[in-house]
Amino acid sequence: MQGVARKVEFYRHSLTDEDIAEVADALRGVFLTTGPRTAAFETALANYLGIGEAVGLSSCTDALFLCLKALGAGAEHGDEVITVPMTFIATPNTILQAGAVPVFVDVERDTGNIDVDAVERAITPRTRGVMPVHLYGTMVDMTRLADLCRRRGLFLIEDAAHTLEATRDGVRPGELGDAVCFSFYATKNLTCGEGGAVATNNPEIARIVRMLRQHGMSKSAAERYTGRYQHWDMVDLGYKANMSDIQAALLIKQLPRLAAQLDRREAIARRYEEAFADMPGIQFPRVPRTARSARHLFTIWVPPEYRDETVWQLQEDGIGVAVNYRAVHLLTYYRERYGFSRGAFPIAERIGDSTITLPLYPKMLDEDVEAVVAAVRRVAAKWSRS
Ligand SMILES: Cc1ncc(COP(=O)(O)O)c(C=O)c1O
Repeated sequence: MQGVARKVEFYRHSLTDEDIAEVADALRGVFLTTGPRTAAFETALANYLGIGEAVGLSSCTDALFLCLKALGAGAEHGDEVITVPMTFIATPNTILQAGAVPVFVDVERDTGNIDVDAVERAITPRTRGVMPVHLYGTMVDMTRLADLCRRRGLFLIEDAAHTLEATRDGVRPGELGDAVCFSFYATKNLTCGEGGAVATNNPEIARIVRMLRQHGMSKSAAERYTGRYQHWDMVDLGYKANMSDIQAALLIKQLPRLAAQLDRREAIARRYEEAFADMPGIQFPRVPRTARSARHLFTIWVPPEYRDETVWQLQEDGIGVAVNYRAVHLLTYYRERYGFSRGAFPIAERIGDSTITLPLYPKMLDEDVEAVVAAVRRVAAKWSRS
């Protein structure tokens, strides 16, 4: 029997006293809701990305939904939006919530990202757009996908919940799509617990998302309560999805630290890749040569028959793990409501049945990383014996 293994949590954030001081400042100020700090964060995010405009929201789910609305998905009965089943449920759910039909296509075997050839085959006269997911931190082949969308007159909304810092072929998230959506959920590389944003080079999309995030009102709270009173109007049926200045305060000082944190994430991921390269039965997604991954999640793919047992064994060994993701089309709602069954998207299913996410965050010490490697090695040794 091994000695007691080192406990490694699945995730720990990297917030600092500087971030906390900024929130304290916000709390002493006037605007707790969307105000000058949200505006400052939006400018900083747009500058970071090299994109025209960013709009702060309450989540990535809202970002996806409002982009679909802004681009007219679901305006006509039967509108279709192509996406992947290898993602978090938010992606296809927002398509349904917008009144459109999610059309799933399978993913690439080596990256888990959308298969652009499969997108082309899935286009019908009802297709309005494509919503790819930059899975785990590695961007999809945006050059090919954007070219296809342009040729076929389809909108392109990028789900970049995992992928803020990435590049691929010199392209960044949001550069080629109509709009890109980010998450600042508790475990994301940039976090304020709950939060999100849309970034776009299209001022009209930014204007509509801004209006829809606040009930379709013609003026924001800052515009209504500063200067001489002016009536506001409701110009469209909107929603409630604005970012608050408290969230923005927590985010803004993190942006300059992202580059150094990405270096640490990269080093940890490379250590995992090196350690698992020759371990029998273990595979992991490949980062294409021309890509820099945001290294949000590090997943291993193990033999499906051992996956759940491995998850439990790692937990027993004190290693925090997650499953990102079981294929969405096989979840009860999608199965029962839309009649999906096993075999529809074999690669996504294979990944969904074999995937385990390991701890990956800048605060991990080298000893933590080695504890994870050792724990995985111990479990993998059991499979080869059985
Ligand atoms: C791929 C993907 N898309 C969308 C979302 C939704 O993000 P949020 O929780 O900010 O709504 C997530 C959240 O984890 C995600 O992983």
